[in-house]
Amino acid sequence: MREINVGIVGTKFMGRAHSNAYIDVPHFFDVPFKPVLKAACGRDAESLKAFARNFGWQSTETAWEKLVARDDIDLIDICTSNVTHMPIAVAAAKKGKHVLCEKPIAMNADEARRMLDAAQESGITHMVAFNYRRAPAIALAKQLIEQGKIGTIRHFNAVYYQDWLVDPGFPYVWRHDVKEGGSGAHGDMSAHTVDLARYLVGEFEAVNGVQEIFVKERPSTDGKMLPVTADDATYFISRFQNGALGSFLSTRFATGRKNYLRIELFGSEGALVFNLERMNELEYYSRTDEGLAQGFRNVIVTENKHPYINAWWPPGHIIGWEHTFIHEVKDFLQGIAEKKPVTPDFFDGWRCQQVLDAVTESSVSQKWVSIAV
Ligand SMILES: NC(=O)c1ccc[n+]([C@@H]2O[C@H](COP(=O)([O-])OP(=O)(O)OC[C@H]3O[C@@H](n4cnc5c(N)ncnc54)[C@H](O)[C@@H]3O)[C@@H](O)[C@H]2O)c1
Repeated sequence: MREINVGIVGTKFMGRAHSNAYIDVPHFFDVPFKPVLKAACGRDAESLKAFARNFGWQSTETAWEKLVARDDIDLIDICTSNVTHMPIAVAAAKKGKHVLCEKPIAMNADEARRMLDAAQESGITHMVAFNYRRAPAIALAKQLIEQGKIGTIRHFNAVYYQDWLVDPGFPYVWRHDVKEGGSGAHGDMSAHTVDLARYLVGEFEAVNGVQEIFVKERPSTDGKMLPVTADDATYFISRFQNGALGSFLSTRFATGRKNYLRIELFGSEGALVFNLERMNELEYYSRTDEGLAQGFRNVIVTENKHPYINAWWPPGHIIGWEHTFIHEVKDFLQGIAEKKPVTPDFFDGWRCQQVLDAVTESSVSQKWVSIAV
């Protein structure tokens, strides 16, 4: 099998999830390349070495510029805080390396556009890691929508709840700093739900939102209080170009909820509901069902005929959150081999970022903001 040399930047949460995906993918899918874990990049040499040893990365770099400049790297995988996405991706694209970039794609739509332009100019394959598109139940929802099973979509409602900031003593991290993240809960969580909405419903027309920082200062590791500049919660409503309406709640203050992502689509012929905490299931209601037993049915998305499942286990043997990244890498490698665009790509990342920016703008102006076409 042909090999593809991967260089990863970022060694923590997403660095681990993506490393696992490169290792697992050739064992389960018939991929065109065997990923070679060539080099890992992080800022702290000691934890970087431990990370590389643990996952089998062959070498390390402590500056991403050096990693991107290496001739023995074909693909750069960006798993760092958001402020670094644009410079790393643009540099990698200019060197002709394929780029898989974590979400949100960038700090703002202008940066995202620069990334898209650089990727298009160099002809690389590019992808944004909106991994929830690759949950089999979401991919099935997409198929059912395309088959017209729920008819004309009227509503897309999304809630994304976490509770890790409820404690005011929770320490300050990069996610509290608008200069490093671009935004807080919004870029982190609404980025996913906006992408799912674009995937399943279509393009946004206009948005109107509100954002809040509930705890204004948090202690740093040395006990100093630092100002929180990134939103703790963002709520917004939207109009889509096709006439559907949307609502989106993202908060890190949803006491008791850990990573509760739930979307609901109501259409003229039926409805679909997905809940990440029960990610192997898809609720489906059809108006064409008849009789007293009409109601939401719970489809267990573990049959061979369901998206991605053929590569895994017999029916009913559920898969997990990490599999979404394995599916993402599988599709990315296929796109590279076939020289075909893979979605969600930097265009999708840019369009998503335009929506995120418009919500932030509307929360300041307290007015509806249209999305540039
Ligand atoms: N797809 C998802 O479900 C998902 C989930 C969580 C985070 N994310 C995204 O992944 C990205 C990383 O988030 P995370 O949770 O892994 O954060 P993290 O804080 O766990 O890890 C960030 C890593 O980036 C490294 N880093 C930062 N600046 C760097 C630089 N200049 N050079 C080298 N390394 C640098 C840090 O040292 C650390 O290893 C973010 O964009 C985030 O929004 C996506």
